[in-house]
Formats: sequence, C-alpha cells, structure tokens
Amino acid sequence: MKVIESITGMKQARWGLSGPVGLVPTMGYLHEGHISLVRRAKKENPSVVVSIFVNPTQFGPKEDFKKYPRDLPRDLALLEQAGTDVVFIPPDAEMYPSDYNTWVDMEKITGRLEGAARPGHFRGVATVCNKLFNIVEPAKAYFGQKDAQQVLVIQKMVKELNMNLEIVVCPIIREPDGLAMSSRNTYLKPDERQAATVLYRSLQLAQKLYDDGERDAGKIRRQMTALIQKEPLAHIEYISIADAANLEEQDKIVTPALVSMVVKIGLPRLLDNIILK
Ligand code: PAF
Repeated sequence: MKVIESITGMKQARWGLSGPVGLVPTMGYLHEGHISLVRRAKKENPSVVVSIFVNPTQFGPKEDFKKYPRDLPRDLALLEQAGTDVVFIPPDAEMYPSDYNTWVDMEKITGRLEGAARPGHFRGVATVCNKLFNIVEPAKAYFGQKDAQQVLVIQKMVKELNMNLEIVVCPIIREPDGLAMSSRNTYLKPDERQAATVLYRSLQLAQKLYDDGERDAGKIRRQMTALIQKEPLAHIEYISIADAANLEEQDKIVTPALVSMVVKIGLPRLLDNIILK
C-alpha cells in the first residue's frame, strides 16, 4: 500500500495503477462503515484509492473542524488490512492555497435539511469531491447511505456536470444495538451512547407504522417525536419525511420516501435515516 501526500504524487501514482480505479473519499478516523466501502470498491475495481482529508470548507465556523477525531496510524493499518492500493492524504495548503477561488455551488437540494442546518456545508462537500474526482480520476466512487443528502448532492453534481464516473451508494453499517456507525460517535459519553439507540428505534417505529398501512407523514413524525422525547438526553433538530429523489417534504407518503433525522445527544448531532419502499 502506497501512502501519498501530494497532489502531483497522486496524479503520478494514478497512472501506475492497473485498470479502472475505485475511490473511497473519507475524512479518516475510520470505522466498519468506511471499511465496508473499501471492500465493495475492492470487489468492483482492480485498484482502490482511499482519500483521507478532513475538509475544512465543509465545516461551519462554530463546528468541530479542529476537534474532529484523527488517528492516522490506526487508519493506515485498517486500510492496509482491507487491501487498499493507495492512500491519498493531501495537505490543506495544496487543496486550498491561500488564493483559492473556485467552488461548486448547488441550488435547491442543498437548501434543505443538512444544507439548511449547516449553511455552506454542501458547497464544501461538492467542491472537495469534485477536486478528488479530478485528481484521482476514478471510474467509481463509494459513499455511505448514512449521509443520504450528501449522496443525492454528489449524484446530482456528477450528472449535471457530465462527470465520467459512477457513484456507488452502500448501506448504512450499524452497531449491534442499531446505532449507525459514525466517526463522531466517539464524542458520546457512556450514558449518551446508550441514549443514542433511540434514533434507530424511532426509525424502526416509522417502518412499522408504514408497514401497518399508515401513509400520513405528520402522524408518523409525531409518533417518532413522542418516542424520542421519552429520552431526556436527546434533542430533536429535525425529522423529515421526504421524496427520496428531491427531498421535498411529503404530507402523504409516496415511495420511495426518505425518513431522515438529526438528533443532538450531548455534543454530536447524530444523523440516521431509512428509505420506505
Ligand atoms: O462523508 C464524508 O466523510 C465527507 O463529507 C467526504 C465525502 C469525504 C467529503 O469530505
């Protein structure tokens, strides 16, 4: 496994790799969710590149950029074990030199949910993914369904900018008690970690109500809210039931519908979702 720390180095190494390349973009502090993306990329491509870059432009001024968890030696060991060919760790100053000026700004879909809660977030995500795609030139790039809106944003950018790659979306990987894996779960104290199971429980409740024939999104949202409010450490930021293709909120559920939520427990904003089909 090669570890490359410059854009020029990555571009050179790219041409030494055999066949089409699968790219897994990450911000490091890897967990089983990331590794599942690497394994899938490995199955589908002769060569796999994983990028580790804590992208400053997708964090708001009051967010956790400086404190974002980092553990490079552990990440490298996990990636080596998973069969990664190249790990690309670009420096901030190369990705965003002081006179940096070019952004991917998307409308509509980035104004809702996470985009509304974190102004500028998707501008940073779309820009850095665009840069990584240009540097690595992958045939496929792998993203987790946990960041459902991010997946839609990237898919739309790739389609609308006529980019030559396929976006592969992989399922959410959960802890045995249902909590979706996330690097930010590390912020949770033991009692908060226990409380965090309420997210998946409320999504399971939504699925059950839907399976029993409920189609009124407001009623489902109210029952999810009531369940989460029984957990004193949990603070709901939003619960959304929306068209899975464009994130427009629904009153009557028409599938596929994305049920997504952010609940704050202690420090972290925890995200989770399911798709009702
Ligand atoms: O999902 C993430 O870890 C990040 O948003 C990504 C896609 C690596 C871009 O920085």
